[in-house]
Amino acid sequence: MKHDEIELPVSEEIDVLKAAFEGKDMSELAGFAENVQLMISTVVSELARNIYKFAGKGIMRIKLLDRDNRKGIEIIAEDNGPGISNLAEALEEHFSTGNSLGLGIPAVKRMMDEFTITSVPGKGTKITARKWG
Ligand SMILES: Nc1ncnc2c1ncn2[C@@H]1O[C@H](COP(=O)(O)OP(=O)(O)O)[C@@H](O)[C@H]1O
Ligand SMILES: [Mg+2]
Repeated sequence: MKHDEIELPVSEEIDVLKAAFEGKDMSELAGFAENVQLMISTVVSELARNIYKFAGKGIMRIKLLDRDNRKGIEIIAEDNGPGISNLAEALEEHFSTGNSLGLGIPAVKRMMDEFTITSVPGKGTKITARKWG
């Protein structure tokens, strides 16, 4: 196995794509089927894109989990950007301050087994999402 945890800084558009590839690789290592790998890759891509778009820069962390003989994957997206002033709105479908579809966060929440978001206006945003095999 290569690493059970990787850190990917996000500051350029290409980093979003790189993170998506790593998300696919890591989910393969976690033993997920290909359709789930692609779903996890999409999750990583959406969160990395939000960092790039709304915070400018931040960091993605992808970690393999092993709890009670159950494998899983953890995706953390963290930035020190502007934060989200109305979290309830951001969690709703079609809410976007970026003139886009506003489906990113709701989709991530739906696709993963665990999802937590903390965001402080002026300080930044941290999203943790886990998927279990
Ligand atoms: N990392 C972030 N920092 C600040 N605001 C964010 C961040 N991620 C998401 N948001 C806010 O939450 C909204 C919803 O995000 P999302 O569901 O991904 O939709 P979209 O990216 O299409 O706007 C965004 O429009 C933005 O206002
Ligand atoms: Mg988005």
